[in-house]
Amino acid sequence: MASTSHSSHQHRHDHHDWDSSKYVSDWAAGQDQKEKARQEPFRVLAKTIPFDNKLPIRILDVGAGYGALTQFLLSHFSNATAICQDGSEEMAKLGQERMKHLKGRFKYVLCDFSKPGWSQKLTGPFEAVVSAIAIHNVRSPKIIERVYSDIYPLLKNGGCFINFDRERPPLEDQMKWLRDAGFQDVKRFWTGETRALFGGFKK
Ligand SMILES: C[S@@+](CC[C@H](N)C(=O)[O-])C[C@H]1O[C@@H](n2cnc3c(N)ncnc32)[C@H](O)[C@@H]1O
Repeated sequence: MASTSHSSHQHRHDHHDWDSSKYVSDWAAGQDQKEKARQEPFRVLAKTIPFDNKLPIRILDVGAGYGALTQFLLSHFSNATAICQDGSEEMAKLGQERMKHLKGRFKYVLCDFSKPGWSQKLTGPFEAVVSAIAIHNVRSPKIIERVYSDIYPLLKNGGCFINFDRERPPLEDQMKWLRDAGFQDVKRFWTGETRALFGGFKK
């Protein structure tokens, strides 16, 4: 799993403190007020996943946090299961608690996606890899580019990767890295004030 030492943690998460139980519960309480505003991009994201909503697809949520997006997708895809990847044990604890009603349909895997080899902990393939406001946390364009190329082999042919995140680094760069990783039909699916929904497909 991800290192939880103080120094690597600061490097990984900048000013965030995802390993602190207080920081995580305060963040989640603040985020709860904002969840309503995310329903529209989450709906667009769910509709962009090119599978019937009754199929037992496997979903990977990268930087899943307490599972807001996972919950949304497990409700839309009523027979799906999910792997919630995150680097924070505290977030995973909160997610287990908040998704009690979905017991058996999701599992947390702890690892740090900024570190090479992180994706080996994840048993693919997945029909859909998704992520929400997580990958920008690593900040380094080189690492984000690598994360995208690590995600591609985790997908089944016909699957997709859809990311809801800040346009930081610039979206044009991020979409180029997706194409370079092998994704096709890379596009922006939705635009918000500070965030966008974008991704591509594995043919
Ligand atoms: C802003 S929260 C978003 C959580 C969730 N996706 C959501 O939208 O509610 C960012 C999440 O990414 C995780 N994260 C940040 N950097 C990470 C890294 N390098 N490896 C794994 N998880 C990371 C944090 O622990 C946190 O749960």
